[in-house]
Amino acid sequence: MSDFEFKNNVMHAEQVPLPALAEHYGTPLFVYAKATIERNWRLFTEHLPPPHRVCYAVKANSNLAVLQTLARLGAGFDVVSGGEIARVLKAGGKAERIVFSGVAKSDLEIEEALQAGIGQFNVESVTELEQISRIAVNKGVTAPVSLRVNPDVDAKTHPYIATGLERNKFGIAMADALPAYELAQRLPGLTIVGVDCHIGSQLTELQPFLDAMDRMLALISELAERNIFIKHLDMGGGLGVRYQGETPPPVGDYIQALLFKLEQYREQTGRELALYLEPGRAIVANAGILLTRVQSIKANKIKHFVMVDAGMNDLLRPSLYQAWHNIVNVENKLGVAVQGDIVGPVCETGDFLGQDRTLIAEAGDLLAVHGAGAYGFAMSSNYNSRPRPAEVLVSGEQHFVVRARETREDLWRTETLLP
Ligand code: LLP
Repeated sequence: MSDFEFKNNVMHAEQVPLPALAEHYGTPLFVYAKATIERNWRLFTEHLPPPHRVCYAVKANSNLAVLQTLARLGAGFDVVSGGEIARVLKAGGKAERIVFSGVAKSDLEIEEALQAGIGQFNVESVTELEQISRIAVNKGVTAPVSLRVNPDVDAKTHPYIATGLERNKFGIAMADALPAYELAQRLPGLTIVGVDCHIGSQLTELQPFLDAMDRMLALISELAERNIFIKHLDMGGGLGVRYQGETPPPVGDYIQALLFKLEQYREQTGRELALYLEPGRAIVANAGILLTRVQSIKANKIKHFVMVDAGMNDLLRPSLYQAWHNIVNVENKLGVAVQGDIVGPVCETGDFLGQDRTLIAEAGDLLAVHGAGAYGFAMSSNYNSRPRPAEVLVSGEQHFVVRARETREDLWRTETLLP
């Protein structure tokens, strides 16, 4: 099921025709379907009731209205910066449902997080444990900590988004985990609440998650032998979505498989553990499209170039990860198909949204780039002095501009000329 479907040969976002949105707000434009976000969220929570917890990974799409939509459903949030904590609070999210990941937290971010009363720090190193302990003691508070342990499993995904291998910068090596927990127990101002890992993103197989979970459960047992008792296991995010032909496990199967392992653990040890997950992409990727207008089409001896008004500064994924996004004409019409690359206006050869595509399009047409709800606007930039697009959230027949298009003045708002 999709909330971006053709009705009378015109693609709609829920009940709103996309050409009307382009008319109203201009292009390029990010369009999100609220119903999809809510449906994706419920898929997770219906399989993972309390005391388990789902913490949406804010980095995937941090628009305030998106966060607000999830906060209203009682979401937890996984954040990686002080900026993301501030966004969650601004959007009405509850501090105690925040888990703070992030590889190099600053003193200021830790202070802000303690001030807000977040639920858990996912600690990345021994130095960070000492840092949090020092700041918590100074403030006269206790910081709830989980250690992010690197299980050294191959997530079988793009190397830029694999995080759980020993050679990656993330987390504490499994071999160092026990002494790190013992240190956490000795240090003042800390209370140990969990164990955490995140092995990568856009995973399309279950096995790496299960392997990682086995290693985490073995660690939790070893900790119990040392009288360190863990309340919950945070397995991070990473469940993949279908961009092209991928067949990631359905959310329900993924969660059932993890819960099954938890149940086995309970039977063997008599100890209860809550499961935390941090999905980002699986909540928002298919809830968003990037709407772009064809500027012109040119051909050389080899292929066509469909030049559109969105570029790598708006949607970086194709350039950075060779990611494939489905691109379609929002009007289902007859005509001559062009074969070639869909390219943006940025002065880089790597500025493409799609390569070797076949589609019916002519200048002036609108194209929808699917799967742009996750890591789309969130990774956009002003490269080539291009103002960033507006973001619109659709709900039924209503549409709301949830981020205005940037203006020329916005481009240099924080710059100054010399006296
Ligand atoms: N938790 C942690 C600690 C993470 O580092 C991430 C993503 C997530 C959760 C959420 O992962 P997800 O469920 O979205 O896979 N820009 C890349 C993805 C980078 C992901 C970084 N970490 C992309 O566009 O594919």
